[in-house]
Amino acid sequence: TGLVTVDPGFMNTASCESKITYIDGDEGILRYRGYPIEQLAEQSSFLEVAYLLIHGELPSPSELEAFEERVNRHTLVHEDFRTFMGTFPRNAHPMAVMSSALNALSTFYPESLDPHDPEAVELATVLILAKTRTITSYVHRTSKGEPLLYPDYSRGYVEDFLRMTFAVPYQQYEPDPVVVQALDKLLILHADHEQNCSTSTVRIVGSSNANLYASVAAGINALSGPLHGGANEAVLKMLDEIKANGGDATAFMKRVKDKEPGVRLMGFGHRVYKNYDPRAAIVKESADAVLSALGKNDELLDLARGLEEIALNDDYFVSRKLYPNVDFYTGLIYKAMGFSESMFTPLFALGRMPGWIAQWREMINDPQTKIGRPRQVYTGAVERDYTPVADR
Ligand code: CMC
Repeated sequence: TGLVTVDPGFMNTASCESKITYIDGDEGILRYRGYPIEQLAEQSSFLEVAYLLIHGELPSPSELEAFEERVNRHTLVHEDFRTFMGTFPRNAHPMAVMSSALNALSTFYPESLDPHDPEAVELATVLILAKTRTITSYVHRTSKGEPLLYPDYSRGYVEDFLRMTFAVPYQQYEPDPVVVQALDKLLILHADHEQNCSTSTVRIVGSSNANLYASVAAGINALSGPLHGGANEAVLKMLDEIKANGGDATAFMKRVKDKEPGVRLMGFGHRVYKNYDPRAAIVKESADAVLSALGKNDELLDLARGLEEIALNDDYFVSRKLYPNVDFYTGLIYKAMGFSESMFTPLFALGRMPGWIAQWREMINDPQTKIGRPRQVYTGAVERDYTPVADR
């Protein structure tokens, strides 16, 4: 069996080779297929980035148009699926609803399930990208008890997502272009991040030849935890709590540094980035721009800036190389856009979907892939004899 060593959290174990995303954690570099995240965030669009991640190259104009058209046309969900989406309790956490929905989606498209049929995989890819958008808007609406709207094919991916999320029936609604552009950028920033907890989950589930829907549904569940995607919601809760307790940032930071159980500076720290998270730098700029463009003056933004300021000058954080990560400022933007806190992590999932799909497809097509099956080092009891219950 060879030598087995324990590597908690897989700090030093590469699970695969990958050509999709490059991270240099010391330099704060993130690239999708070689393209710097800063250039993509500034100049590309979410669906173009999805194409790039999944197919490896930027699309030509006609390829992009065909891809957008195909995704757009599939945003409508089956009427029974729509009914199903309306059956969850209003106070259900949207991440639970979302993962259930992605899993349930597979039951409507049996022709798209075979992981080794390229046409089926292509169909599943488009269906998942298209319907996750609709599902995310429905998740928001069911949490409000509002009617579920139908897609409008004449609009763009993000624009129509916002309309389906926020429009009130029989009332005029036009998404604010500032919000459309800002959300598109945020989705790009979330689109992939190599072998993090949820992506590794997607790959390991898929390594058993489970279908793409089952694998990404598992990814959503992994993402829901507060140490991972759930951090964006946890940051806002933390800021709310500090404000409710009088807004004393220094007192809160003392609790963090004293390592009070369960108290961490949420939105700070990263397994790989030991320098500023390049996504956080873009998000921070965006937060300033979006909040001022929308005329929303959120005192929580000042509080967040204050916490960052303390952390960047405090030995506890500096010596541990803890910097803001992507989740630190995103919640403030989502809130300004009108999303409730429980929707923040579903938005992360919507953004991450292309990455999960690209990684799953790379895994399925990689001749090196084997079923994920880590070893263990057993530390339990040595062999002993069973005693009947009456003799114990
Ligand atoms: N606040 C206070 N202390 C922290 C924090 C934090 N946010 N993060 C790490 N530390 C401390 C930790 O206590 C440990 O200290 P010591 O060496 O004295 O034991 C040291 O820094 C190293 O931390 P770790 O937990 O061993 O690091 P990790 O690589 O296992 O964890 C992390 C990475 C992101 C889970 C962690 O930094 C964390 O819990 N951050 C807060 C949650 C968060 O923002 N998550 C989002 C991550 S980025 C996007 C995403 O994945 O969704």
